[in-house]
Amino acid sequence: MSQLPATSLQDIIGHAKEYGFVFPSSEIYDGLQAVYDYGQNGVELKNNLKAAWWKAMTQLNDNIVGIDASIFMHPLTWKASGHVDGFNDPMIDNKDSKKRYRADQLLEGKAEQYEAEGQPEKAKALLAEMGRLLSAEDLNGVRELIITENIKCAVSGTTNWTEVRQFNLMFSTQVGSVAEDSSLIYLRPETAQGIFVNFLNVQKSGRMKVPFGIAQIGKAFRNEIVARQFIFRMREFEQMEMQFFIRPGTEMAWYETWKETRLKFHKAIGLPAEKLKFHDHEKLAHYANAAVDIEYEFPFGFREMEGIHSRTDFDLKNHQELSKKKQQYFDSELDENGKPFGNYIPYVVETSVGADRLFLATFCNAYTVETVGEGENEKQRTFLKLHPALAPFKAAVLPLVKKDGLAEKAQAIANSLKSSFRTTYDDGAAIGKRYTRQDLIGTPFCIVIDYQTMEDDTVTIRHRDTMEQERVAISELKEKIGYEVAVERILEAI
Ligand code: GAP
Repeated sequence: MSQLPATSLQDIIGHAKEYGFVFPSSEIYDGLQAVYDYGQNGVELKNNLKAAWWKAMTQLNDNIVGIDASIFMHPLTWKASGHVDGFNDPMIDNKDSKKRYRADQLLEGKAEQYEAEGQPEKAKALLAEMGRLLSAEDLNGVRELIITENIKCAVSGTTNWTEVRQFNLMFSTQVGSVAEDSSLIYLRPETAQGIFVNFLNVQKSGRMKVPFGIAQIGKAFRNEIVARQFIFRMREFEQMEMQFFIRPGTEMAWYETWKETRLKFHKAIGLPAEKLKFHDHEKLAHYANAAVDIEYEFPFGFREMEGIHSRTDFDLKNHQELSKKKQQYFDSELDENGKPFGNYIPYVVETSVGADRLFLATFCNAYTVETVGEGENEKQRTFLKLHPALAPFKAAVLPLVKKDGLAEKAQAIANSLKSSFRTTYDDGAAIGKRYTRQDLIGTPFCIVIDYQTMEDDTVTIRHRDTMEQERVAISELKEKIGYEVAVERILEAI
């Protein structure tokens, strides 16, 4: 049995669509750029990922609780957070092709090229220079750098570039039905602010003591200039964020702790260590004093999957200023001089992972094509090697044949398992074909009912990854499979 080389993004997109994981949005109208819908299997996988994250935050940690804030927020929220003034991407157009690019991505692409050519020093220097220019908001300098590096438009092949301009990524709309009464409102570009504005509500109502965290899963919206690479960069996406409120001065220790904890999570859901790495930010976001990405090696290279940011007291301080409501916490613990730490605005370390990027990483990692059999019997087998706790269906119940009461027996077994884990029943087509159907959507266990079942109440379990079969008693199924597919198996590994 041999494994074939890595997959292209096109294979992933094709498989995701064909087997009900991800569809282009409003496809009958030719789709909407950078917007996607999750299908019947995709939504299960995504929900399982979200549940694993939610439990890893709010169940494994006594001091983390969750909320679900609205997408719409008071417009001043985004003034305080810095998004109105600073949530921009530098864009540049090629005058010949009229194609629009993100200036930073053009330079990052060049740095990747240097890396690939074995010139890592040059790549590093280029990224450092880009970081310096962007931090200084020197947009002319960014343009000059693109020209000096001889970066050409992929379509026209020329270096005929416009100025670099900043483009705000927030979507806006109006609230209020009557034009005169309406006011401009934004679709949240991150879920984090819903947590910040509820910091005191949660702290007081939950009697939370610093350090404590608030977790949230929800939609975010960004008018991305260049939206591409499938669900990697979308205009509507989902974030899973956790703000950890801490005593000022302790942020670097917590930053390190959360870096390690989050890396462990990704490994626990089955992403291999060699496909994960940390990447320190060259250019810090407007709110951070330290920031790192956890990158995953997608088919298009290592890219950000999660951000971990030390946000200081930037957000709470600004909310305090604009709302004129104190955002302080009274810390009654004693310092080394025996005095209470007293009132302060907590610092925050945030962990922020895109549910869609986590989905894409999980899906890409699971997608497996291998050659099985020998000689004339050699063929390719495609299957999704998903962690059993993440698979859309945990088990499929398959009668070997429909007659002689096997179908009824199989139905009864499927029904008896349904309340414990998601189980499907299939009696159409030859057994090999039915295994393949389950392999393609990542079902870890196929339970086969045969003539022996009718005699001794045993069945075979066929394991997805090894294709090995074992004979077990029907009475053991619930416990045996239930153990393997439980989210506990993920949580224990964190
Ligand atoms: N609150 C911090 C924050 O929003 P970010 O690095 O801009 O930080 C966090 O975003 C995560 O959200 C990213 O690591 C990524 O997984 C996800 N994300 C951001 N923009 C996205 C987009 N356009 N499409 C899909 N996921 C996105």
